[in-house]
Amino acid sequence: MARLTVTGGRPLSGSVRISGSKNASVAMIPAALLASGVSVLENVPEIVDVDVFGRILSQLGARVSREEGRGLVIDPNGFKTWEAPYELVKKLRASYYLLGVLLARFGRAEVALPGGCNIGLRPIDQHIKGFRALGAEVVLEHGVVKAWTKGKGLKGAPVYLDVVSVGATINIMLAAVLADGLTVIENAAKEPHVVNLANYLNSMGAKVQGAGTDVIRIKGVKRLTGSQHPVIPDEVEAATFMVAAAATGGDVLVTNVIPKHLDSVSAKLREAGVEVIENGDSVRVVGPGRPRAVNVKTLPYPGFPTDCQQVFAALMARADGISMIQETIYDNRFGYANELIRMGASIKVDGRTAIIEGVDRLFGAPVTAIDLRAGAAMVVAGLSAQGKTDVYGVDHIERGYERLVDKLVGLGAEVSLVK
Ligand code: EPU
Repeated sequence: MARLTVTGGRPLSGSVRISGSKNASVAMIPAALLASGVSVLENVPEIVDVDVFGRILSQLGARVSREEGRGLVIDPNGFKTWEAPYELVKKLRASYYLLGVLLARFGRAEVALPGGCNIGLRPIDQHIKGFRALGAEVVLEHGVVKAWTKGKGLKGAPVYLDVVSVGATINIMLAAVLADGLTVIENAAKEPHVVNLANYLNSMGAKVQGAGTDVIRIKGVKRLTGSQHPVIPDEVEAATFMVAAAATGGDVLVTNVIPKHLDSVSAKLREAGVEVIENGDSVRVVGPGRPRAVNVKTLPYPGFPTDCQQVFAALMARADGISMIQETIYDNRFGYANELIRMGASIKVDGRTAIIEGVDRLFGAPVTAIDLRAGAAMVVAGLSAQGKTDVYGVDHIERGYERLVDKLVGLGAEVSLVK
């Protein structure tokens, strides 16, 4: 079975360049289908989720290729079907963005309910609420979401989201850009990738205003053209390297980042006694011998990201004192605690709260990455532990981290992928 073997105890040092954002890419790739011409997305990471989405688009009739020095080239001409069956979409949660895109393009969509990380219930009622507000009929039949418009297609409308949802905000934006009239999304998600997508759509000729605030106004246009647009740096990957530097008492320059997107993580690291120095598009992180225990509560952006609490828990496992991590976004995102306990961590989980009593040292052990971010936590724990940690479930990690082993080795870590 493939595994990552990590021998801990070496402080990371040097510099690491952060790749493009996974969650921005998986929204912008389907968005390219809304245009009548070719788009080129720059800085798209080479990760499994992107490959899978590329294959889904190819099977729907679009042409997707990577061109050296240019980026991911997506030609939507040839894209003709409104059906995305389970065999295609099951591996990728973000395939639900095809609902918004297909509805906008064809007034009809049939997309199987997707897979993705098992981190608790992940309903899509808010996406559906949005499509219905725009005039679509939506039913769920045999695991497939079927949506269609009657008459002249989607019509702009106000949509109030009952929960702040990144996915619903993006999907409604995708549906609304070609709708007739004005859509206003209230209580919208403000994550950086929502803004990245809005900027891409606007570069294609869309009229999206207010992305990054909780009210997004989308004035529908008749058609969109292809465009060349960059994907923002991945803030979760950046946070992972920042925390890894802190956890190993290292000194790492994390480059190609937007420090503003990392504010909540930097603030918590500083509270824990870690030095975080911002300089332009990089941050330098200098870890202390042992971090102080701090409490974390996950919240929608600009709060502390739910995708970063796992690596932070790995850091807190060795902190001086007791820390509390509250997860407010998902109902089951502490599955990794059992794995950290195998390495000597002292963690109690009570519902959506993990209480971590810092220990002097963690010990290497065989552990399993039960999902993507849990996998990152295993790697960070392994880097700071004594001895060898074998991390199984590598496929989860490869979904979202580009060249993780090479980047860690470049920082002096002893890590290898055993196939
Ligand atoms: N929710 C609903 N109804 C909906 C949609 C969401 O109740 O219709 C709830 C969810 O159950 C959850 C909360 O709203 O409790 C937030 O979910 P959201 O829709 O924001 O999450 P998502 O779009 O499914 C994206 C990322 C996740 C990241 C979350 C939160 C992608 C492909 N996924 O998921 O990323 O954790 O936003 O920031 O963009 C990851 O990268 O490992 C990952 C899981």
